[in-house]
Amino acid sequence: DSKHLYTVIVLGASGDLAKKKTFPALFGLYKNKYLDQNTHIIGYARTKMDQTTFEGHVSKYIKLKTEADKATLQRFLKLCSYQDGQYDQDKDFQNLEKHIVEVEKASGSTARLFYMALPPSVFIPVATSLKKNNYHSFEKDGILTRLIVEKPFGMDLESSRKLGRELGALFNEDEASYPSTHCLAVIYRIDHYLGKEMVKNLMILRFANVIFGSVWNRQSIDNVQITFKEKIGTEGRGGYFDEFGIIRDVMQNHLLQILSLVAMEPPVSLSAEDVRDEKGLSNIVNSSSSPTYQVKVLRFIPPIVKENILLGQYGKSEDGKEPGYLDDKTVPHGSKTPTYAAATLFIHNDRWSGVPFMLKCGKALDQQKTEIRIQFKDVPGHLFTGLSRNEIVIRVQPNEAVYVKMMNKEPGLGMKTIISDLDLSYSSRFNDSVIPEAYESLILDALNGDHSNFVRDDELDAAWKIFTPILKTIDHGEIDPIPYAYGSRGPKGVGEFVAKHGYTRGEQAYVWPLHSEA
Ligand code: BG6
Repeated sequence: DSKHLYTVIVLGASGDLAKKKTFPALFGLYKNKYLDQNTHIIGYARTKMDQTTFEGHVSKYIKLKTEADKATLQRFLKLCSYQDGQYDQDKDFQNLEKHIVEVEKASGSTARLFYMALPPSVFIPVATSLKKNNYHSFEKDGILTRLIVEKPFGMDLESSRKLGRELGALFNEDEASYPSTHCLAVIYRIDHYLGKEMVKNLMILRFANVIFGSVWNRQSIDNVQITFKEKIGTEGRGGYFDEFGIIRDVMQNHLLQILSLVAMEPPVSLSAEDVRDEKGLSNIVNSSSSPTYQVKVLRFIPPIVKENILLGQYGKSEDGKEPGYLDDKTVPHGSKTPTYAAATLFIHNDRWSGVPFMLKCGKALDQQKTEIRIQFKDVPGHLFTGLSRNEIVIRVQPNEAVYVKMMNKEPGLGMKTIISDLDLSYSSRFNDSVIPEAYESLILDALNGDHSNFVRDDELDAAWKIFTPILKTIDHGEIDPIPYAYGSRGPKGVGEFVAKHGYTRGEQAYVWPLHSEA
């Protein structure tokens, strides 16, 4: 809401997420004037810190490109202040309240954005304390409240529902009655992949292009892969990671969100609730929006079965320089937690029946990239030889691009086929545009009251239903992860796994030209 001047309160301000993502995103918005230049930011966490230490913490991951950026940062830091306190003590939240009120008096702010960058264990205590000590009704006090929450949203279907119920008892989910009453505090569940430029582009690629829209179905598409690779391991966060594993860390949220945007039916409109209806409405847990009965893509996906999953865990790098997952002292001895997973999902609806959707993600691999690879069926008949299948590849990061692998006539005499591509690489086509960071885009959406790119509670419920049974099997230690070397392409068997579900390399070798720069 542009008419509201916000105060942003970052809870968990001393943590990794705040330092690496939240503060740099707030700075990015401030620098580009998307944030009112009088927006104050208050950090809150248990650690005791003076203003200078806090400023160091806020700026640590902020990238400054020019002298002007440095001056902007100094102005930004003047708007930042810190307050320490426990996460379950009313008196500490009352002190925070005093701090907020002082800031509001000075700046004239009438809206509060609470950003919960917190470990899951303190989620509900903090939400409870906020409701009790820092929440005001808009009608009575004229203060608008919004709450951004970050994953993990539970460990499985049950714990996610419990969290949803507890949070829902304190704060409201729904935007339907906003802005007519204004008094609702609204929850914004972040999945930062929904803020990525190429993920947002999916709606336009699919629904604003006849050439893509008309082939986007089982008649033309053979299989889909959504891949997330990271070079870094879990160093420094092994303790957290071991409890969750790669499926809860990346696949159940980021990759499934991408899948739902690749596979959903066109929404009635671009309104937040219309889009989210198509992605995954299942039974209503906490939302007060009325259920609709259109096609809801996540509901058509049955739980993943053991035969359709492959797990890996990284060991030392081949040269012995990089540590294995189990070498991390915070990881329990003999842990079977996967750091790599490949899973195949099926969508039992008219559009997708029989098309495998393979989700693959891993840490400590040979490269960093996220991409969506849609592989088409073979060309019928035998007119030509040496063919490779068409593929539409949407490169989410790095080097944002959309390219279509296609057959062409090899230039020159003769009629030989050659594989080539139609390549929309952002670096050459849109070289003057700045691609916003995912968190910048999402925080701005929350400030503007736009829910479209956030996860709704019922969508989360549908997502957990797909993953909970297999996660239980994994948690019981029933699937041994296959070891792979740090920095390698992943566990042995991934090639066979994708081949089993229909992916074929084709007869001609192909390397995307920008690949080596990735
Ligand atoms: C986070 C995961 O949600 O996403 C991390 O917890 C992962 O393990 C990160 O590294 C990846 O995000 P990005 O934006 O760097 O691709």
